Amino acid sequence: MRTPILAANWKMHKTRAEAAEFVAALLPLVKDVERVEVVLAPPFTVLCRVAKLLEGSAVALAAQNVHPEPGGAFTGEISAPMLADLGCRYAIVGHSERRSLFAESDAFVARKARALLESGIRPIVCVGESLEEREADQTFDVIGSQLDGSLAAAPDDRIRDIVLAYEPIWAIGTGRTATPELAQDVHAFIRDKLAQRFGADAAQQMRIQYGGSVKPENVDALLAQPDIDGALVGGASLDAQAFARIVRFESQES
Ligand code: 13P
Repeated sequence: MRTPILAANWKMHKTRAEAAEFVAALLPLVKDVERVEVVLAPPFTVLCRVAKLLEGSAVALAAQNVHPEPGGAFTGEISAPMLADLGCRYAIVGHSERRSLFAESDAFVARKARALLESGIRPIVCVGESLEEREADQTFDVIGSQLDGSLAAAPDDRIRDIVLAYEPIWAIGTGRTATPELAQDVHAFIRDKLAQRFGADAAQQMRIQYGGSVKPENVDALLAQPDIDGALVGGASLDAQAFARIVRFESQES
């Protein structure tokens, strides 16, 4: 069985005080949650502080980005060994905001994923189609080629450490969630692609999160789908109560 993974992507939000307030509110609300992995991805400026606040809890720390080189003259960038040093267990790569706003290619995402694996950090590799691509019936082509490109540098023996996140761009920050059935179709396609590439066993073990306007109101139906193994949450993850409800999605409490 795959352990569901619920991750908060805070994006460019929260000061040190706000982050501390969030963690203090969240930890008691998720303390007794079992068989679910909870992950917080704060901005770099509060990673160190959140790492300390999470000590002794089961909540894992994630970064929102990484540079593929281990060190060097890359002003403003952060390397995988630096993230490992802070205790990051995950890092998000290939988010659509980075692909579109910072022109990150699949090849660059692939190098980041490899660098993370080499530092013992699990990449959360995001893929997703735009509204134009969906309307032009290109969803599976786009996702297929993002997967091929973004996973190209991952060693086969570490592939199970990678988490995929399907985030349709038209659902991010728009309040317009993919229906559970629509998301399931793409998740099943992703698992099929993973099976062709890495074998059925690996594909069955790999987790595929859904992201895009996940909220307390829609998480239960999304997570009830057979190939949706978690959520990558933006807006609703900024509020401790809302994120805690998402972590405590219904089927896992039954
Ligand atoms: P929202 O939950 O705000 O739609 O953001 C989704 C996302 O981009 C998570 O990485």
